[in-house]
Amino acid sequence: MLVIHGPNLNLLGQREPGIYGDVRLEAIDTGLASIAASLGGLVECRQGNSEGQIIDWIHEAMHDFDGILINPAAYSHTSIAIRDAIAAVALPAVEVHLSNIFAREEFRHRSLVSAVCMGTISGFGPTSYALGLRALIEYLKSPEHETTRSS
Ligand code: DQA
Repeated sequence: MLVIHGPNLNLLGQREPGIYGDVRLEAIDTGLASIAASLGGLVECRQGNSEGQIIDWIHEAMHDFDGILINPAAYSHTSIAIRDAIAAVALPAVEVHLSNIFAREEFRHRSLVSAVCMGTISGFGPTSYALGLRALIEYLKSPEHETTRSS
């Protein structure tokens, strides 16, 4: 699975710790790698600050990955292009947010990406990623997904 962290998430641990906590991105990635390994999967984690780069990675995932776990960060609220890229590659995707976007400023209440993802997990800090990855792996292993793939 490809894990994509959007803009400013490279600053986790230093950035607004009252909202995003003090766990650094490397620690989140290490946790995801061990969850994936324990469930028989593999993750590759990337962080990007630009929209085009994130779109290129989503396109790449079409050939090289089985699913996408994405925290689009601020692009969740603005990027039709990232939404279209996820829809275009037609891979199972799960959206995650550290903070509860619905409990924050109004401009964060809407994510343009949610509708093209299987689901969204928001508000549990680094656990949002862990839950999202488990959901994605469970889906990829399910007979439901095998049927979709072979049809
Ligand atoms: C975020 C929430 C977004 O609104 C914000 O722009 C981020 C991080 C989160 O993980 O809580 O950068 O995606």
